[in-house]
Amino acid sequence: MTDILIRNARLVNEGREFESDVLVAHGRIEKIATSIEGIRARVEIDAAGQWLMPGMIDDQVHFREPGAPHKGCIASESRAAVAGGITSFMDMPNTAPPTLTLDALADKKRRAAAGAKANYAFHFGVSRDNLDTVAALDPAAVGGVKVFMGASTGDMLVDDPEILERLFSCVPTILLAHCEHTPSILANEARLRELHGDHIPPSAHPLIRDAEACYRSSSFAVDLARRCGTRLHVLHLTTARELALFTPGPLAGKRITAEVCAHHLLFDDSDYAALGNLIKCNPAIKTRADRDALRQALLCDRIDVIGTDHAPHTLEEKSRAYAQAPSGLPLVQHALPALLELVEEGALPLTHLVRKTSHAVAELFGIRERGYLREGYWADLTLVERLAVPQPVDEQPVLAHCGWTPFKGRSFRHAVRTTVVSGQLAWHQGRVQDDCEGLPLSFNR
Ligand code: DOR
Repeated sequence: MTDILIRNARLVNEGREFESDVLVAHGRIEKIATSIEGIRARVEIDAAGQWLMPGMIDDQVHFREPGAPHKGCIASESRAAVAGGITSFMDMPNTAPPTLTLDALADKKRRAAAGAKANYAFHFGVSRDNLDTVAALDPAAVGGVKVFMGASTGDMLVDDPEILERLFSCVPTILLAHCEHTPSILANEARLRELHGDHIPPSAHPLIRDAEACYRSSSFAVDLARRCGTRLHVLHLTTARELALFTPGPLAGKRITAEVCAHHLLFDDSDYAALGNLIKCNPAIKTRADRDALRQALLCDRIDVIGTDHAPHTLEEKSRAYAQAPSGLPLVQHALPALLELVEEGALPLTHLVRKTSHAVAELFGIRERGYLREGYWADLTLVERLAVPQPVDEQPVLAHCGWTPFKGRSFRHAVRTTVVSGQLAWHQGRVQDDCEGLPLSFNR
């Protein structure tokens, strides 16, 4: 008996939509065919009226393990991820301890093997002291190498130009950069403090972490990468101005690529009035014009992939005054349904969304046999239903450990019905499946 047979689904894959059945066995997609007959499977799903797409591969999450179990851990956040149709994640190194040594990397892999519901990889961190370790990394052992060229959560800032030049020259695999110019941020903050004292409003966040701070850092990173021949991936773009640094067009052959995150496509600075510190994140959510430019940049492939930057903090932490409230928001459970609102509004074709959340992420990182619906590939699948009546987010439990979502009060017109991770049911009939285990991602490098 095979494992899972999905009948009558509408597949969304590689630029096409078509009706098909899909058979899953031994973790892999065994067959994609209009009608698969004479087979009995352990699980049979009639997916009539549902889209079947490759699961989202999230290239940027902060699952907080080890070090901050009060905010989340690999098990809790990956449960939320599979409920949101995410089948693979790549976790960031700003944990405690940070992922700056091979031991810390091995420890995270052990933890994920024991608790991850989705497939996983880890980005290695950079400090001023670990460049020798970075240079000697096995490219296949990490998702990539992450450098905080702007200060954010954790103490991982590296902005000394000499160290950066050495890093950009020696990094043996894809380098992911958080780009914000810290001196500009500090000067802006001092100015706003003069104006507001200890009562800086959250709406000042994009004035402190402003477009200039982003551009100064990302243009520096792109210039340096060109000079050093670095394979650079600039994370979470937030401004129209930065877009000119990137080339539109197909991913193949690009040495410098860009990511945008769901919240920067979905919120703008008018949302601070209602959401305040809940949408405080780094880089900041900027203007509506920036948001619209990011959407356009997705369409012409100037931006290559969409991630979430899922970064949970507790409500207690978020309810502190602006300056004390940490940056980041929980997103993995709701990013895909929220992005599907853009499809509904006609702002993003569905096949294009799937390219940015699955195909292109697999290509960009060289992830082996995932990111597409192809026979022989791992079965990482997401079934999505378009709802006759939009569903209030508040009717669903929030699965991230922090227990809140920035989408509270909104309704979505799509629901993730089933998520399959490496051929196992991970989310089905409204429940995370306890026996599902994510696998480590492997890379063609
Ligand atoms: O808003 C953010 N939160 N941006 C980051 O770069 C880090 C993240 C976190 O870890 O909280």
